[in-house]
Amino acid sequence: MASSRATPRQHVSSLSEESARSGQKRAAARAAAELVEDGMRLGLGTGSTVAYLLPAIAASGYKNLRCVATSPMTELAASALGLTVEALDEVGELDLAIDGADQIDSKGWLIKGGGGAHTREKIVACSAQRFVVIASANKAVSELAPPVPLELVPFGVKRTLLSLDPARLRDVEPSPDGGLIADYFGPIDDPRGLAARLSATPGVVEHGLFAPEMVSLIVIAGEGAIERRAGGKPRLD
Ligand code: 5RP
Repeated sequence: MASSRATPRQHVSSLSEESARSGQKRAAARAAAELVEDGMRLGLGTGSTVAYLLPAIAASGYKNLRCVATSPMTELAASALGLTVEALDEVGELDLAIDGADQIDSKGWLIKGGGGAHTREKIVACSAQRFVVIASANKAVSELAPPVPLELVPFGVKRTLLSLDPARLRDVEPSPDGGLIADYFGPIDDPRGLAARLSATPGVVEHGLFAPEMVSLIVIAGEGAIERRAGGKPRLD
């Protein structure tokens, strides 16, 4: 009789895949940590890839970094490692921001917000002269696939969800800014058109589509090799 449970062999293989991905996340994070220089104003993303970035930055021993965190989780982890975390409005423009991604397509579009932190992440990314994305190889896709994370205003959220159909709320706590986290499940064949539509929908605080021109560099770690893709954000220097 067919069983829906994984066989021990499948279990071992998915564990080894998981451990390979963790190694790739660590490798991408360490490569990006090399871009950090003492004295920088630095934006820190959110997620399991960023969790490898924080100790790599802390290990540099730089004493004059000013960090801005994109989530309470990152703030806690960075502070515990001795990094100085301040509010974005205290620090102002950032030199560099580094963050993970859920999907990266061949044209440089990203989907972010798997952790529901995409609103703060987009503000931080757009406040930085350079925005660097770090990822394991499985995040690179030929075409983006649903869902696209959303942050919604609680007022009238049922009306907002109806106007976005198909979309549904995630069963998670509100964001630190009081927004409800949801996902949009419609087609993404035209990311720019969809991004414009989502941004123009009343009740949508922010969506997780990041355009190529927001990104300076994408660092993707695969098996034994690191790929660096230039993003579409113009360099200021
Ligand atoms: C959180 C994010 C994360 O960067 C994204 O979900 C990737 O996470 P991970 O590094 O854990 O795979 O956008 O809102």
